[in-house]
Amino acid sequence: MGFRSDFVWGAATSSYQIEGSENGSGKGENIWDVFVREPGRIYEGHTGLKACDHYNRFREDVKIMKEIGLKAYRFSIDWTRIIPEGTGAVNEEGIAFYSALVDELLENGIEPYVTLYHWELPYELYKRGGWLNPQIADWFGEYAKVVAERFSDRVKYFFTINEPQCFIGLGFLRADHAPGIKAPYRDTFEMAHNVLRAHGKAVQMLRQYGKQPLVIGYAPTASMCYPESEKPEDIEAARQVFFSMQEDDSNWTWNVAWWSDPVLLGKYPEEGLCRYEKYLPKITDEDMKLISEPIDIYGQNMYNGRCIRMGKEGKPEDVRRKEGSPRTANDWPVTPECIYWGPKFLYERYKKPIYITENGTSCHDVVSLDGKVHDPARIDFLARYLKQLEKVSDEADIRGYFQWSLMDNFEWTRGYGERFGLVYVDYESQKRILKDSAYWYRDVIQAQTIM
Ligand code: FCB
Repeated sequence: MGFRSDFVWGAATSSYQIEGSENGSGKGENIWDVFVREPGRIYEGHTGLKACDHYNRFREDVKIMKEIGLKAYRFSIDWTRIIPEGTGAVNEEGIAFYSALVDELLENGIEPYVTLYHWELPYELYKRGGWLNPQIADWFGEYAKVVAERFSDRVKYFFTINEPQCFIGLGFLRADHAPGIKAPYRDTFEMAHNVLRAHGKAVQMLRQYGKQPLVIGYAPTASMCYPESEKPEDIEAARQVFFSMQEDDSNWTWNVAWWSDPVLLGKYPEEGLCRYEKYLPKITDEDMKLISEPIDIYGQNMYNGRCIRMGKEGKPEDVRRKEGSPRTANDWPVTPECIYWGPKFLYERYKKPIYITENGTSCHDVVSLDGKVHDPARIDFLARYLKQLEKVSDEADIRGYFQWSLMDNFEWTRGYGERFGLVYVDYESQKRILKDSAYWYRDVIQAQTIM
């Protein structure tokens, strides 16, 4: 038992975080290109202009993937590289870049998994209302059609949208991600609804224009909930909190059910419909049909979770972590249990094959005097999480795992201040160094188990 024999061992990245936005002509501007220019937005004024220069170095990067033994690579397409204004004219140079990347992967025996949207909204569409404009479902559909036409002869696996919770919550409620505007709550619900409609439209277009039967998924995030003990009441408490909507209005996007129930169950959760009634846009049956267009796989980004138990009055409650409990370099709690309970609860509810589309940790990595990068904290983190994933593989249909990230990269508002990679990047020289964790992951992939 444990991992399936055809388990997909991968690593993930996203376009803005690695490509280098100054590279390649014909690319249009997206909201991150514009946002990073504002003083004070990003740690030490960093930008993605150069990033990992992956646009020019992708062949070297694929070679590294091969050295690690990756079976699959999850990357995203920057919408504005291939359709600079979001709709209309196609930029052949952008198409040629992703096409060459796909070919290089396939030649090296690495399966491409393409994400359509990892937060780079074309600036021209932003000016037309962006997610607030209901037409965005068609714009996104048009983009998905181009992707299907140009790449689906070779790419079989697609994820539509990455972490809607983040780009609506951080972009428009907290407003510290692009475009960095605080929107009225009413608008954020409308945007969320349009995000889901756009997802549905993309699924339709990928199926319609796909050149082979495609495997299509979605990649939301969530803070997982796990029970304090194996007592049935604690498990039930964790399950309840996991699928509930408990955050206050200013933080409402942080939940699972609002983003996944419509896609997989065809309806918004009752709790949210009541609680947020005053903010909701018009929701039609036609919308719900579009949103719940059948998908094949469920992607879940998973970094940490909350410990829950059933309280004395039969009400679930959070369990405080012990003082001194482990945290990552960017101060996220280390909670391996979340990757056992999260997929278990998700599989129970949605009954779809699951891929962990992101999981990993930021560490204070340095190049040591011996010229190597020793990152025992990352190895320990990944080993703990993967052991839990191996355990849940006996109980749920877990198809694959994408470590975040293949290489150190531009971590949004934290700039280059966080290192999440299996591969160390020296941003000045663009030299790559495989960290100890990359070799460790290579051995795990070979052994198909955690030693
Ligand atoms: C996720 C994002 C990804 C990266 C990791 C650390 O929320 O999808 O781009 O920032 O976190």
